[in-house]
Amino acid sequence: MNPHKGLILDETVKYHQDLQDDGPFVPGTTEIWPAGAVLDEADRTAIVEAALEMRIAAGPSSRRFESRFARKLGHRKAHLTNSGSSANLLALSAFTSHLLEDRRLRPGDEVITVAAGFPTTVNPIIQNGLVPVFVDVELGTYNTTAARVAEAIGPRTRAIMIAHALGNPFEATEIAQLAEEHDLFLIEDNCDAVGSTYDGRLTGSFGDITTVSFYPAHHLAMGEGGCVLTSNLALARIVESLRDWGRDCWCEPGETNKCLKRFAYQMGTLPEGYDHKYIFSHVGYNLKATDIQAALGLSQLDKLDSFCAARRRNWQQLRDGLDGTPHLLLPEATVRSDPSWFGFALTVDPEAPFTRAALVDFLEQRKIGTRRLFAGNLTRHPAYLGRPHRVVGDLANSDIITDQTFWIGVYPALTEEMLAYVIASVRQFVEAGS
Ligand SMILES: Cc1ncc(COP(=O)(O)O)c(C=O)c1O
Repeated sequence: MNPHKGLILDETVKYHQDLQDDGPFVPGTTEIWPAGAVLDEADRTAIVEAALEMRIAAGPSSRRFESRFARKLGHRKAHLTNSGSSANLLALSAFTSHLLEDRRLRPGDEVITVAAGFPTTVNPIIQNGLVPVFVDVELGTYNTTAARVAEAIGPRTRAIMIAHALGNPFEATEIAQLAEEHDLFLIEDNCDAVGSTYDGRLTGSFGDITTVSFYPAHHLAMGEGGCVLTSNLALARIVESLRDWGRDCWCEPGETNKCLKRFAYQMGTLPEGYDHKYIFSHVGYNLKATDIQAALGLSQLDKLDSFCAARRRNWQQLRDGLDGTPHLLLPEATVRSDPSWFGFALTVDPEAPFTRAALVDFLEQRKIGTRRLFAGNLTRHPAYLGRPHRVVGDLANSDIITDQTFWIGVYPALTEEMLAYVIASVRQFVEAGS
């Protein structure tokens, strides 16, 4: 190694260590964040090394991350993207490709999704000229059910796109079976649930395609970043084309002529032998991430199992500590699942003698961070008013979530002491108000 580089990396480790002395946890003063990246000295060094090598575009670390992450999640292919939202856009857009011939999604086709969730699980449906069909979710699991999805299937329904809510798996076996019976594509938004299992199988492995986010709140952090994973090689090829400007060629930047036919194609009305690197077969985007992000991702990936274990442990501490608290609906894992939790959701009983806002305010004053269950009922937001959609059943629970639900953190940086303070604070407020 270049001696200057070695010195910089050694100094980076020392710099990281200097920053670690946060002092002891002081209840009411130390921030208890609901989520955040957990970054160690190896992560900091990985970023600095990638920066020193000026790996400013997608390159070898991106490829290495894709192959390691695909293996970890049991898929044949992974494509790194600049966000989980981009991953969702690519995942759904892939099904509109002409390469799927008669099976492709066409404008006006319907995609079943849930009303209470994150906007960019739904947005790709609208962005592709498709029609979202909204179903309600259950309180407690915050997921929809196979029965609700079954009820929503109509003559134009062609796909299902749902997230595993706050890390808690939806009924993936049953919903995948419905998809198969009705010839529907299944897209699993696994952005919040990496490491969760249902029926002993990892979430993200039930559908045709799945997505992950690497925004700092998530199980792995890259700053910004996301990933599309599939074991269907034809779909993977479409995702890659859409991610990389829509090009037909699959050579990496800097590579040429992997197919040995670079100047032997004739496509569209282009002349025979037009350079395949510049033939575009999809109306694509550029949604790639950089090698600096991927270098961080590789370093984070080494810690994924311990991160997931900490999330499970933290959730369980909150669940046990808050058990029996009046007026609060505690979260429940979906039956036959083992969630790698994203957050700990609480719903205040509408009949409670206190409001959600008052409880949230009390916790925030004590430096206990809270978050909304994302958008609540998405159909009530200005962005979605007046857009073509269908609602099946009522959205009563989504409305309750809009009014009464929030979540607190379980991410790996939270300590037993911090969580004990969270439990004591919630109990103190509820008991005082009861
Ligand atoms: C379920 C779900 N899907 C998609 C996303 C979007 O991911 P990103 O923020 O990386 O765009 C998020 C973000 O938190 C999410 O929670």
